[in-house]
Amino acid sequence: MAMRKFQILDTPNALATDPPDAQRQRAKALIGGSIEKRRAHGTPSPLKGRYVVDPIFRVQDEDLLRAYCDPTDKRRLVVEIGFQLGRFVAGYCALHPDERFLGFEVRRKFCEEADEWLQQHGVENAVLALVDAREMLPRVLVPGTLDELFVFFPDPWWKLRHVKKRLISPEFVADAAGWLRDGGRLLLKTDVSDYADWAEEEFRRQPAFEVTRLQDPSAGLPPTLRERRCGLRGEPTWAVQAIRRPRIEHP
Ligand SMILES: C[S@@+](CC[C@H](N)C(=O)[O-])C[C@H]1O[C@@H](n2cnc3c(N)ncnc32)[C@H](O)[C@@H]1O
Repeated sequence: MAMRKFQILDTPNALATDPPDAQRQRAKALIGGSIEKRRAHGTPSPLKGRYVVDPIFRVQDEDLLRAYCDPTDKRRLVVEIGFQLGRFVAGYCALHPDERFLGFEVRRKFCEEADEWLQQHGVENAVLALVDAREMLPRVLVPGTLDELFVFFPDPWWKLRHVKKRLISPEFVADAAGWLRDGGRLLLKTDVSDYADWAEEEFRRQPAFEVTRLQDPSAGLPPTLRERRCGLRGEPTWAVQAIRRPRIEHP
């Protein structure tokens, strides 16, 4: 089988030929698309589950997410983008029952399967949202109040023409710096060495972040499904963290 090559553009921005707003729109449209457009033209599909909310088609679920992210709630708030089957959600929540866990996933089937897994594991402190995190977070989160943002084993989108589909992008990194509180953490794990290098570089371009490649790629956290599979096959993984530097206060 031919080796896949991870393509890296030599410009800092993968969508360099578009103006910034067009880049943002295109990138977002690839997964969830604009929420307003989805509400106007999309077709709601029945969604089952105790933990899953559907903030695109049930407007009250967007209010529920806003209330869940209430910054006056003293519990830590952690977000995972792309929880897939929810294995990490259950593992993390069992270890941190006093925190608020908010997961995002764009595939309905995964949301329902994760929901079943959380029910089986008696999880009490998680909400799973069927929506593109990049679209919903700015609507429900007060900037500067998120404690941790987890992005684990995102799709690498190997080819040059697919670079725009990668979750990590200059716009995403800038948004993450706005969402996180001072000292908060963006943590990326991947099993693609070049993706780790590329993401680390993107993080380092954002002056609000202090970036470290972790020696321990598990980062001391429960494994995700993909991470477990890599471990069983003896395949290496990498972790890069970006800590939000303190905002400068103007007198
Ligand atoms: C490779 S899988 C993740 C694997 C899982 N995190 C693990 O480590 O086992 C990437 C997942 O992210 C989801 N995803 C990608 N972009 C997303 C977005 N913007 N918001 C929510 N979910 C997203 C995809 O649907 C997919 O299930």
